[in-house]
Amino acid sequence: MKRVVVLISGGGRNLQALLDAGADGRLGAHIVAVVSNRADAYGLERARRAGVPAQVLPHADFPSREAFDAALAELIEGYRPDIVVMAGFMRVVGAAFVRRFLGRMINIHPSLLPRHPGLKTHQKVVEAGDREHGATVHFVTEELDGGPAIIQGQFSVTAQDTPETLAERVMQDVELKIYPQAVAWMARGRIGLRDGRVWSDGRPLAAPRGLDDLETEFR
Ligand code: GRF
Repeated sequence: MKRVVVLISGGGRNLQALLDAGADGRLGAHIVAVVSNRADAYGLERARRAGVPAQVLPHADFPSREAFDAALAELIEGYRPDIVVMAGFMRVVGAAFVRRFLGRMINIHPSLLPRHPGLKTHQKVVEAGDREHGATVHFVTEELDGGPAIIQGQFSVTAQDTPETLAERVMQDVELKIYPQAVAWMARGRIGLRDGRVWSDGRPLAAPRGLDDLETEFR
């Protein structure tokens, strides 16, 4: 079974969905560790409850980004992961770290990338009057929130939506479905990164997969 390390900084709802999918066999992968850069991340508690080793590496303990990245990479490599999953991991990692895990590290971002990289995506959607919103799972490359997309789930924004309702809809209706699915595809070797593109079942993906492509057990 493929080995997965999950990086978190906060509440860990995405982590919980991955733990659940791991426990009931849908993930087809073994979550071998959860690492947080914050000691107060509630996701650590979720990991412990699931019997998964939970580690804290406080970024404030390091003199530079490079020093933190290097320590984080060592900690992660100690678990010999096939897949590194950033699930609400709120630290920007540097080029050396990205290169070390290129092709096996993915992130989830709460917008329809390339629209709205960075923070406060739900507020940006309201301010811009966007009619569509959603979330994207992508390979991590050196460009922040810019790596090739694996799957994107979207929905229509209504006139009643606020940044708060959008945050909940993105999490509940999109993120908690597409992230376990994306990890399951990777665990089965069905998705990979080659020459800067996403490959799926031996072909380059012309466009990211969508909610319609979710397998029944991830809907
Ligand atoms: C998610 O919206 C994710 O897309 C973003 O941070 C949030 C993490 O939430 N990067 P949680 O920690 O999984 O609950």
